Amino acid sequence: MPRRILVTSALPYANGPTHLGHMTEVVQCDIWVRYMKLAGHDCLYVCADDTHGTPIMLKAQAEGITPEQLIAQVGAERRRDFAAFGIAFDNYYTTHSDENRRLTVRMYQALAAGGHITRRAVRQAYDEKAGMFLPDRYVKGTCPICRAPDQYGDSCENCSGTYTPLDLIDPVSVVTGTRPVARESEHIFFRLGDFEPMLRQWTRSGALQPEVANKLDEWFEAGLRDWDISRDAPYFGIEIPDAPGKYFYVWLDAPVGYMASFENLCARRGLSFDDYWAPGSEAELHHFIGKDILYFHSLFWPATLEGAGFRKPTAVHAHGFLTVNGEKMSKSRGTFVTAGRYLAALPPEYFRYFLAAKLGPGLVDVDLNFEEFATRINAELVGKLVNIASRCASFIHRGHGGRLAKALPDPDLYREFADARTGIGEAWEALEYAAAVREIMELADRANLYIDRQKPWLAAKDPARAAEVQAVCTQGLNLFRVLMAFLKPVLPATAERAEAFLRAPINSWSDVATPLLGTEIGEYLPLATRVDATAVSTLVETPMADTEKPAASAPPAGISAEEFARLDLRVARIEAATLVEGADRLLQLTVDLGGERRTVFAGIRSAYEPAALIGRHVVVVANMKPRKLRFGTSEGMVLAASGDAGLFLVAPDAGATAGMKVS
Ligand code: MSP
Ligand code: ZN
Repeated sequence: MPRRILVTSALPYANGPTHLGHMTEVVQCDIWVRYMKLAGHDCLYVCADDTHGTPIMLKAQAEGITPEQLIAQVGAERRRDFAAFGIAFDNYYTTHSDENRRLTVRMYQALAAGGHITRRAVRQAYDEKAGMFLPDRYVKGTCPICRAPDQYGDSCENCSGTYTPLDLIDPVSVVTGTRPVARESEHIFFRLGDFEPMLRQWTRSGALQPEVANKLDEWFEAGLRDWDISRDAPYFGIEIPDAPGKYFYVWLDAPVGYMASFENLCARRGLSFDDYWAPGSEAELHHFIGKDILYFHSLFWPATLEGAGFRKPTAVHAHGFLTVNGEKMSKSRGTFVTAGRYLAALPPEYFRYFLAAKLGPGLVDVDLNFEEFATRINAELVGKLVNIASRCASFIHRGHGGRLAKALPDPDLYREFADARTGIGEAWEALEYAAAVREIMELADRANLYIDRQKPWLAAKDPARAAEVQAVCTQGLNLFRVLMAFLKPVLPATAERAEAFLRAPINSWSDVATPLLGTEIGEYLPLATRVDATAVSTLVETPMADTEKPAASAPPAGISAEEFARLDLRVARIEAATLVEGADRLLQLTVDLGGERRTVFAGIRSAYEPAALIGRHVVVVANMKPRKLRFGTSEGMVLAASGDAGLFLVAPDAGATAGMKVS
């Protein structure tokens, strides 16, 4: 019986570029969806951009555009990046939509009608200069517990203590640099505790991984507190109907975005929304998320669904984090690999394969180790899998007109391969991807061993053994086809090329039950080629934008006037600014240093549109040693200030001209 399944992955925040962390999640999810579809289930995959909240509002302000413009830009990039990695969404939408507004309001009104909403005054940090309340992360100051300086308003990185922004010693607003004041305002709360009995039961219903269920027990122990779901204007979000000037906290409307994206799909495909979301629905609902957003998906989300009269998720599948060469992805360390940077260096399906080879069903982190990456692609994908086809194809074309033999010489071996689909299918469904890949590679070893033993290249020298060569290679290509089918959820584009080569599409998981016999095959074109270790290393080798160097390299305290004088700082006029293909953080600038032209690559793309820079005066370090980058040579460095509020070019006062010395 085909199952009806709706799948989602977390909605990425529309405030920055797609990175391999996002990709980890959507690839895991996409493999699952592709497998379930191949297995004959009626499976739909929806996602969207998460577009509301303070960071998006402030980022748009900093860039001098509207939030709508910002989310449109990011949304377009996001769709392009996900498409490049072969993510087959049935719908990719946005939370800034009518569907989401209506569904969020409907959810809120149902919760209120059920008595699950309450209001009370909250004292919060307020930035008088910006005229806004400050989220915890937008206040910094000295930790009230251990006195470590420069800590966020919610917790201390030094002593792990937690507190509120108003507890900080010498608090400062990250938005304006001024000291925030305490101000009261009424907030709206969701009474999470009303749902504790339901949540306790749902937790043990099989919807959650065991380690997640245990985590929830800890949260129950700690007590379920009311959840603050309102924010005061100015806020980019959905206005609360019965509370003018107040908006829903982004985390209330974000998961509703799953429903909104689905509703949008329903309209296009004529599906019934209620079939999937009404209580008692027989459709399955699966959410794929990162372990950092479990609280939202395993407590708030099922509780608000229940309270508003919707069904609850069938399963929440949480995964661990992607690290790069053993380190957290971090902008300052250069281990923050954007989708764009990856695509400039390597084929997207190599990342899908690597990830599949590493992922299990648990919450453990996955490390993208570059050496292992190159080894797996070269030794497994190219050396084992693709090798089977490349070894056999030419013999079928030479002397047999590209036609496969009419019978297999070793039907039992074929049957064993084809029968493995049950176990491998179960592994895909159980998110045991690493185990599935391991088994497929073991089969690939056996296929290669078969060819090694039969030695068609020797038999091919003897015209009397032509039928044998054709039979052996027909066997080899059929084994290859089975393995390619098993990997089709992971490598959809490669599988498609293999299908074209074999002239036999794989439309369902059981298609490999029958071998290809007596048919004609197409020309073999390399399905995967070895990766060059240096290509992999460029993922992080690209030097960080000059302005984003970590503070770790700060000079030792106290430099002399002579040391300072070694810096040749000059006023420069920007003559040209262009995007750099394959480096989505960089702009290529041509600057005039008063008669002399230089090319400078600057990591300011996130904050400046190229066109807006032409004619501006900036400060340049003119005596930097030229640095060779992948895209060209950088002959200087442009100064900019950076911090949580963004990135700002340093400019001389009006009147300064190109070439002036800065000291
Ligand atoms: N907007 C929220 C999700 C709302 S869902 C209703 C959000 N966005 S996010 O852009 O920060 O993250 C999107 C997803 O990517 C999350 O599931 C998050 O866990 C995942 N990842 C972000 N960085 C990651 C890694 N380095 N590794 C693996 N997944 C990571 O959270
Ligand atoms: Zn502290």
